[in-house]
Amino acid sequence: MSRFRVRGAVRPLVGEVTVPGDKSIGHRAVILAALGSGRAMVRGLSGGEDNRRTVAAFRALGVAISGEESGALGVEGVGLGGLREAARALDCGNSGTTMRLLAGVLVAQPFPSTLVGDRYLESRPMARIAGPLAAMGGRVEGRRRRGELCAPLTVGPAPSRLRGIEFRSPTASAQVKSALLLAGLWADGATSVIEPALSRDHTERMLQSLGVPLTVDGPRVTIDPTGWERRLPARDWSVPGDLSSAAFLLAAAIVVPGSVVTVRGVGVNPTRTGVLDVLGAMGAAITVAGLRDEGGEPVADLTARGSQLEGTEVAGELAVRAIDELPLVAVLAAHARGRTVIRDAGELRVKESDRIAAMAAALAAIGVTVEERRDGLVIEGGRVRGGEVASRGDHRIAMAAAVAALGGEGVFSIADTDNVATSFPGFVATLRSLGAEIDE
Ligand code: S3P
Repeated sequence: MSRFRVRGAVRPLVGEVTVPGDKSIGHRAVILAALGSGRAMVRGLSGGEDNRRTVAAFRALGVAISGEESGALGVEGVGLGGLREAARALDCGNSGTTMRLLAGVLVAQPFPSTLVGDRYLESRPMARIAGPLAAMGGRVEGRRRRGELCAPLTVGPAPSRLRGIEFRSPTASAQVKSALLLAGLWADGATSVIEPALSRDHTERMLQSLGVPLTVDGPRVTIDPTGWERRLPARDWSVPGDLSSAAFLLAAAIVVPGSVVTVRGVGVNPTRTGVLDVLGAMGAAITVAGLRDEGGEPVADLTARGSQLEGTEVAGELAVRAIDELPLVAVLAAHARGRTVIRDAGELRVKESDRIAAMAAALAAIGVTVEERRDGLVIEGGRVRGGEVASRGDHRIAMAAAVAALGGEGVFSIADTDNVATSFPGFVATLRSLGAEIDE
């Protein structure tokens, strides 16, 4: 198991960098290319372990995919009727998106599939997809763990046809929404998902760009294949840089006085930019330049400067739009003046780790006053001093802790950092190129 050793920065972080491709968009690009009719290129995939799991799964399902996972992949799409039964279980590793989106695809196939994952993924709740997919007539079986339905999952074979449903999702979850919309490609009649707040909308954008009959009406998304030829055209995808990865570099610049860091070519889809709004509210100097459209997603160059932060409140719809960055917000709160309250973020408890408990423990270990609440955290800004942090095998906890360290005093040791490679291969090298003292 690897660990990070980080020293509180004694000089500013300066430079211009890029980050690996957006993990969420990468998964979807591979899935839609695999289900397309003909050859398509996917460029800019992250090279991270999570996206690799999705690629490996489609290879196992009979899709020919050539090239480098961190460069350009050529995908020979097999069409909606062309997947073949895999010879063995599909290993989704640490990737919840791989498991939940694949379940939506595989529930509609005429053969059974088994989905497994690492010990973290196999502890995460799967009833949220199994329930509505079963309501569509699909078969998703799992194992009971502490009363929750969990992986390994057995998915399919489908009945002759799934049926569309209207599903009111109790949680704002793009994974749930996407699993249902994907299953809806094969269903009879319309499939609608209504969310309590809008989660990331990459699936909707990408399906619409392929001409799929999908409509968005406020919080309701509907796919209705009635009369549609059920054919996804082959199209190339270009994956923008991952804002969720860029955010760590920008935050590092913000907490180290005098820093100026630019990250080029970052996706700034409004369903993902909650972290920029939170940073702005805390008084961080962030600029967005060169806004452009790349393949239906907005992309920009982001620059952050060392800033004095103030405490803030994050709740409701903003918590959804910043969900993956809330561990990082907790770190920024530790470096801010005054109190920060994060609410309405109970979903953090079922991510790659229980991120509320993990961040409360991590901050306490480095001298920060923090209160753990059922659906969030209360953090008192103050001094951050060297110590030992457990990342609980969670990539975002490990990277957030590294940022906390860079803005703190002394030497920090962050344990169990292997999973940083699931989303941000090159994290350590990128920080070092900006002048940070971090070793692995
Ligand atoms: C993702 C959706 C989010 C997010 C995850 C990626 C996606 O999860 O936390 O990192 O690509 O659809 P939920 O949909 O469970 O909120």
